[in-house]
This record gives sequence, structure tokens and C-alpha cells, in this order.
Amino acid sequence: KETVVSGIRPTGKLHLGNYFGAVTNFVKMQHEYNCYFFIADLHSLTTHPTPQDLHGHVKNVLVEYLACGLDPEATTIYIQSDVPEVTELYLYLNMNAYMGELERSTSFKDKVRSQPDNVNAGLLTYPSLMAADILIHKATKVPVGKDQEQHLEMTRTFGNRFNRLYNNEYFPEPFAFNYAANLVKVPGLDGKGKMGKSEGDANCIYLADSPEIIRKKVAKAVTDGGPTQDNQEKPESVQNLFELMKIVSTPDTVTHFDDLYNKQAIRYGDFKKQLAEDMIIFNSPIRERIEEISKDSVYLRQVARHGAMKARDSAHKTIKEVREIIGFKPF
Ligand code: TYM
Repeated sequence: KETVVSGIRPTGKLHLGNYFGAVTNFVKMQHEYNCYFFIADLHSLTTHPTPQDLHGHVKNVLVEYLACGLDPEATTIYIQSDVPEVTELYLYLNMNAYMGELERSTSFKDKVRSQPDNVNAGLLTYPSLMAADILIHKATKVPVGKDQEQHLEMTRTFGNRFNRLYNNEYFPEPFAFNYAANLVKVPGLDGKGKMGKSEGDANCIYLADSPEIIRKKVAKAVTDGGPTQDNQEKPESVQNLFELMKIVSTPDTVTHFDDLYNKQAIRYGDFKKQLAEDMIIFNSPIRERIEEISKDSVYLRQVARHGAMKARDSAHKTIKEVREIIGFKPF
């Protein structure tokens, strides 16, 4: 069985982008592969969360993983900071990750722009930590959204460089994965880019959002202008809402509104109402499970402890071999 690794940063609640870019694949893959799904709490330290927020958000992701259908018996679910072998491998990989390539990474450049007062070394070396997450289990498949593609490329670079340096075909090459041939980028509600926490709460539909909140957010979504000619190309904001509809609604519903659009007969009020109701139908069962599972601290503690043990077994095996390859050997 091939090995699979993926993680999500605990920055708050999971949204539809996280779900369709990543988690829905986790749920399917857990029965087909040897899977490790974790909560990337070390990665989230780059933005200096308070201890309370950090702890709460880690619990949130754990609860939401389970609510989405991750099965702790079928797969290994763990918290990144419970596996210190990851940080050890991170240190080794940093020794041959170069300033130039780290500075050129798109995510780093974005952060320099969005948080100019906090350009820390953790941000710069974020790709080596992510490579350590993946290589520590020698994974080959990594279910992620489109925004992580470059990080996967860097992971392959670091793994291959380690192999060359020690003349040892040790790490396999991992690739980004989605069951739907292409990697996914779920758009947000603001008429522009992707759905994402840093783009603001109003831009995101969270799995835990109540029906009222979903109706409100969708009603406020941007829809620039309407068609002025038949069969006109849609403006980005409208196109984005159609993309979201494709994800949560039936193909018939999408075709129905597409036809109306092409005939210049679409009423955005009706269109948004339908979109909101279909989102509610999609997220309601998950939301209910989130509420239930979050009450069960005993179960959550047990899942985290069990996952940490399984993840450390695998990580320890790798780190022991890596130490030998590097030349750390007992006298
Ligand atoms: P993060 O926490 O930003 O996002 C978690 C996952 O959700 C996907 N995603 C999206 N997919 C499609 N459309 C969107 N709008 C959207 N928004 C988020 C992300 O692509 C990701 O798969 N660096 C990672 C976390 C990480 C990781 C790893 C992932 C750390 N180590 C090792 C895989 C393997 C991140 O910040 O994802």
C-alpha cells in the first residue's frame, strides 16, 4: 500500500475549501492507503497564536476531521507537535534548503506582503517543515488543494537533494493528489480569489456554519453586473458562485441556472437562495456531528493519544535510519 500524508493548520474552523480541496480525499483514501492525517500546529506558530486559541483550534480540527468521517481505526490521526521526530528531520532538511529558493516560494512572498511586521525564520523555512511532515513517513501521495502544489515541488527537491548528498535512494518522491484528476481551488464569496481564512470570515462558508449564517453570507456574496448579451462570459464573481454551486448542488440545478444566465433571465436572488439551501443540505449532517463529538473529551483524548503512538512508530523508524545515513552512529 502506498503511504499518504496530509495536514491542516489549526487556524480556526474548516471551510468548504479545506473540505473539497483536502478532507473529502482523506475520507476516501483512508480505506485504500496507509494514511497519516495530522493537525499542523507547529506550522500555525508562524502567526503567534495565544495558547488558548492554539489549543482550541487544535481541538476544532480534530473534532472536524472526525465529523467529516475520518476513522481513527482505519487511519492515523495525530497532532504534529506530538511527534518530535518531525522537528528533528526539519532541522536536517534545513541544512540543505537554500535561502534563495525559500525566498522565492510564492507562499513566503505572500506572507511578506500580508504580514510585513512578522517575517520570521519559521515562515521562511515553512517548506522544509512541510517536507519533513511528508518525508518522515516516506509518503508518495499528498491530498491537498491547488495552493499547496509548489510546496510539494519543494518537498521533492529537498528529498532528492538529501538522496544525492548521501548517495542513497532513501526518500521516495511525493506528489499532490486529488481524486478528481486536477487539484482543486474552491473560490470564496467575495468575487475574487480562493476561499480562505485570511481573506476574511465573510468570504468563507464553514462546515460549522448554521443555516442562518449561510443564508446571510450567500445573500451578501458579490455578483458584479448581469449578462447584457445572450451567452456572454460570466464575470469572475458570478463564475465563482457557479463553481460553488457545482460543488454542492445537483448537475440539473447548475444547468438550470446556467441556461437562465445565457438567456439573460437569471435572478441572482433566486440563484443565491438555491445555492444557500444546497450548502445547508450539504453541511447539516457534518455540523450536527461536530456538535456531538466536541462534547466527548474522553474520546478526543483517546484518539489523539492513539494517533500519536502510531505516528511516532513510523516517524521513529525513519529518523533512526536518517541518523545513520547522516553519520550519527553509536561508537
Ligand atoms: P492549510 O491549513 O492552509 O489548508 C489545508 C488544506 O486545505 C486546502 N485548501 C483549499 N483547497 C481548495 N480550495 C481552497 N480555497 C482551499 N483552501 C485551503 C489546502 O490546499 C490544504 O490542502 N501547508 C499546509 C498544511 C500542511 C501540510 C503539510 C499539508 C503542513 N504540512 C504536509 C500536506 C502535507 C497548509 O497551510 O494548508
